[in-house]
Amino acid sequence: MCGIVGYAGGRSALDVVVAGLRRLEYRGYDSAGIAVLADGGLAAAKKAGKLANLEELLEGQPLPAGSTGIGHTRWATHGGPTDLNAHPHLDNAGRVAVVHNGIIENFAALRAELAERGHALESETDTEVVAHLLAEQFSSSADLAEAMRQVCRRLDGAFTLVAVHADEPDVVVGARRNSPLVVGVGQGENFLASDVAAFIAYTREAIELGQDQVVELRRDTVTVTDFEGKPAEVRPYHVDWDVSAAEKGGYDYFMLKEIAEQPKAVADTLLGRIGTDGRLTLDELRMPDRLLREIDKIVIVACGTAFHAGMIAKYAIEHWTRVPCEVELASEFRYRDPILDQRTLVVAISQSGETMDTLMALRHAREQGSKVLAICNTNGSTIPRESDAVLYTHAGPEVAVASTKAFLTQVVACYLVALYLGQVRGTKWGDEITGVIRELSEISTQVEQVLETMEPVRELARSLKDKNTVLFLGRHVGYPVALEGALKLKELAYMHAEGFAAGELKHGPIALIEKDLPVVVVVPSPRGRSVLHDKIVSNIQEIRARGARTIVIAEEGDEAVVPYADHLIRIPRTPVLLQPLVATVPLQVFACELATARGNEVDQPRNLAKSVTVE
Ligand code: G6P
Repeated sequence: MCGIVGYAGGRSALDVVVAGLRRLEYRGYDSAGIAVLADGGLAAAKKAGKLANLEELLEGQPLPAGSTGIGHTRWATHGGPTDLNAHPHLDNAGRVAVVHNGIIENFAALRAELAERGHALESETDTEVVAHLLAEQFSSSADLAEAMRQVCRRLDGAFTLVAVHADEPDVVVGARRNSPLVVGVGQGENFLASDVAAFIAYTREAIELGQDQVVELRRDTVTVTDFEGKPAEVRPYHVDWDVSAAEKGGYDYFMLKEIAEQPKAVADTLLGRIGTDGRLTLDELRMPDRLLREIDKIVIVACGTAFHAGMIAKYAIEHWTRVPCEVELASEFRYRDPILDQRTLVVAISQSGETMDTLMALRHAREQGSKVLAICNTNGSTIPRESDAVLYTHAGPEVAVASTKAFLTQVVACYLVALYLGQVRGTKWGDEITGVIRELSEISTQVEQVLETMEPVRELARSLKDKNTVLFLGRHVGYPVALEGALKLKELAYMHAEGFAAGELKHGPIALIEKDLPVVVVVPSPRGRSVLHDKIVSNIQEIRARGARTIVIAEEGDEAVVPYADHLIRIPRTPVLLQPLVATVPLQVFACELATARGNEVDQPRNLAKSVTVE
């Protein structure tokens, strides 16, 4: 939430920062702003709405050229999305500019204190206090990094701050607590950003910043300390994807590109994890087998789409390992005093690795002595850094706010963990594991097949553009798929969409059925637990008898559904537990097309942000 960029180097800071903000707009798009140091002073511009509004403003009133600058794209927390509340925020003299991601919890007290000392604060934000505090501190130390350290020691909450001061024209200072901030290390230029995507066009060398660290950036140096000023150890790393991965590549939307990338994302997530002997080798897991043998409970915590991946994983984990597995919304987890101990393995699933609720849940689990395994898509992000072990999904950068390829790879990664547990605990034989891996390896081609047959789904979506409600039904692993289909539709099409366990139909949801109401039904394979298949076929008949327009997702060769399907979407035959990997894809395409037909912004749905870094 909120994207931040800082630059010190030889290029035009305006160009670098605006380009960086464009890549970070997925983090929030309520307003955008920039500050540049030039001609001994500080020039700033900010505008409510998307980055395009700021760019338009800058065309009319260009900022002076300078090579040190900061920028911000906002997801509003304190104060509405107005020009005045947009970042950067300046002190009264206009010498300091600061941008912020997070929430400063004690800002009201700090604000009152500043007002008493004669400061005039203009905005409704929590951030503005920082600009004023920095100005005060700088007046005694004339050192922005030191001023930042002093200020940070006074702040409560989660914050990433990046600031410049007109009296230190070559310096950008950043501070990090909880929210993300990475350094890009170039030649004669350095960068700061919430995400490497902002500087990947200039350098692929990065440095992770730890908790409670302050960084001073000059064109040739990067100096990192803790909040007390003690030099800090940093971890440099190389970003293994390039700028083309962060671009739309000819697609109208990132979401379309990311849907199309799913076969590769799934294949990449399996890559290198199967030894020549057919055994799984999750070396990067960094968790001793002894420990994995001792666990007696697994708890998955996640939010949004990642939570649905966790719900699917539960079926496979319990089936393959016989270890009880719970799945919980990260935002609920720590507030109910969950029962955790050293024998509980907590699995935190997160695409971004920055979701605050998931981070807080894993911290709580570790405080209780549990081990935490992160399943994450973003190298160097906070959640894997704070976990005992990590398995990365190799989906590549996901930019569209609505998650697609990350979801599929999260399911695959969870399955790898489940199989690995089965392997070390002896609940799965080697040949069984090899068999499942072979089936997983085929999924990539099957997703490709699904993608090739999506035109009727798009047509159907367009025909439903004036509907208000769509319901989704599923059973077993098809239930989380139904929930995910409904979530996608809410996020993108702003329609009332709900997913139900088909078995619950008669306990309430059936009362919603009325003439012509579209109901999407995810049908389990007739070859697996055929009893589930038969029951859901009955459900389809029940809702159709009451007027529903049935949209049936069923595997090739399932003829039993044909008489009751107003629309039939075919998916390839897969083993029961792998069906979500193909069945989710038409639902992503459906939601994306409906959003387009309704004239909505596909990549940046209203009110949402990709990375939710506040609780
Ligand atoms: C936001 C995004 C969702 C995502 C969820 C969890 O709500 O819009 O697409 O599923 O956060 O994000 P994470 O990065 O933790 O997977």
